[in-house]
Amino acid sequence: MDVDHVRIFDTTLRDGEQAPGCTMTLEEKLEVARQLARMKVDIIEAGFPAASPGDWAAVHEIAREVGTPDGPTIAALARANKDDIDKAWTAIQPAANKRIHTFMSTSDIHLEHQFRKTRGEALELIGEMVTYASSLCDDVEFSPMDATRSDPEYLFEAIRIAIECGATTLNIPDTVGYSTPQEYGDLIAAIRANVPGAEGVVISTHCHDDLGVAVANSLAGVYGGARQIECTINGIGERAGNASLEEVVMALHTREAFYGLKTQVETRELARSSRTVSSFIGVPVPPNKAIVGANAFAHESGIHQDGVLKNRMTYEIMSAETVGLDGNALILGKHSGRHAFRKHIEALGYTLTDEDFQHVFVRFKDLCDRKKKVDDRDIEALIVGETQHTPHIYKLEHVQYSSGMGMVPTATVRLVGPEGESRTDSAHGTGPVDAIYKAINRLINRPNELMEFSINAITEGLDAVAEVTVRIREQGASPSGGSDPTTINLTGKRAAQQIFSGYSVNTDTIVAAAEAYMGALNKMLAVRQERMKAEAVAYAAGYADDPGALPADLFDSGSAG
Ligand code: KIV
Ligand code: ZN
Repeated sequence: MDVDHVRIFDTTLRDGEQAPGCTMTLEEKLEVARQLARMKVDIIEAGFPAASPGDWAAVHEIAREVGTPDGPTIAALARANKDDIDKAWTAIQPAANKRIHTFMSTSDIHLEHQFRKTRGEALELIGEMVTYASSLCDDVEFSPMDATRSDPEYLFEAIRIAIECGATTLNIPDTVGYSTPQEYGDLIAAIRANVPGAEGVVISTHCHDDLGVAVANSLAGVYGGARQIECTINGIGERAGNASLEEVVMALHTREAFYGLKTQVETRELARSSRTVSSFIGVPVPPNKAIVGANAFAHESGIHQDGVLKNRMTYEIMSAETVGLDGNALILGKHSGRHAFRKHIEALGYTLTDEDFQHVFVRFKDLCDRKKKVDDRDIEALIVGETQHTPHIYKLEHVQYSSGMGMVPTATVRLVGPEGESRTDSAHGTGPVDAIYKAINRLINRPNELMEFSINAITEGLDAVAEVTVRIREQGASPSGGSDPTTINLTGKRAAQQIFSGYSVNTDTIVAAAEAYMGALNKMLAVRQERMKAEAVAYAAGYADDPGALPADLFDSGSAG
């Protein structure tokens, strides 16, 4: 075991994706997984295969494409029951390096009220299920859920049993984000000091951010001897989220002399990872967010600017370049040719298919006609916008709007449908965006609620490119019905109404708003279609004996609760 190496275990696609509004299509999950591999995270937790056939199929596909011999380990989550463990194991089969991650609560409050098990019964289950997982896979992670609210002596015993039964990584979840850095660091140190066998396994942190200290707790855990951090891009995850990957990585990188530890993460990929996830889930990165926020490297006050101009180190502890935010060079314009443009985006680190390149190039030329200075931030936004792989079930072909003082805002929209049919409709609204959305709804007729609408300028200036993000919730989906977009999260509830996001960039803010809305609607329809296809694939691969067998309430159904 390399004692100076801190493994980065990314759970954006599991703990992150399971948070409300963070749903991604299969293609988006794959793109995030590719980016995580490019960034060289050690382990990707690709999902929770027992949650649904769609989750199983996504994990399987990620394992197949990204789980190459020199790529990351692909992990899948499973509750402590044989059926979940089997589903996790079959889903990660194609990966060269695989890990089963199984968990069971150890706090009295969870055991008593949620699992209805005695402490003794839970220990027995942990022993049996870790033994079972280890009989399939030589890389097994065990998590005593709600560890930080568990009786420490009982927790040590649970960990001892898990190690004895074959677990190679012991993850210590602060499931409800209750711990403080001092306590969490001490707990990790106490586990290392008191649990027989702890010296031969990797101890891992998994901290939620309910008190805003998930990153601080993770770092305290590492200081106490943990050598794996579980985290997510932009800190997305249940409730207040998880420890943010970019923050823990840059803390260890910037303060290497203090910690004496290293990760293998390619830090120049951090900004792009953040942008990719943010655009897929429709959650903008706050400007003041550490490391990847728009203002993270902006110096506003006169004194700071003066200092930075004299020597950057006066007010900067790390450089924008280190996290991949150095792309402001103005070297391309409307006369740049296809070859130069391709070379430039390759230098930015993007490899596009011919088809994606063609779309981005057309948008780039169009942008050069409308914007004086096109810089790398614009180009990256175009790439992210144009390479989102939400299928265009309905394509926006034409949008026209009129609005102004003393006028009734009106919009006309033409869409091309799944069978290639072109249809046009018009509507009035309270403003041009409302009118466009009403016209689109008349054509697609899929009731939904607009949850969030946000506009950002990518660059400075009046001709800046607008980045629009919308989030919608499907209305009228029945909680358990057929192929409705239902998911099952870790608390065993079916979320009847998922939230879908859309993203677009355009110098015309209203057109960007129309495109973003179409993106969200198409995603809603695509996820529904994908779920049906995934069910067929997963059942054909032996996902479950009975296609109707997914229980309505998972914690009432199996041995894990
Ligand atoms: O927060 C938590 O306890 C989890 C476990 C499943 C590891 O996400
Ligand atoms: Zn968690």
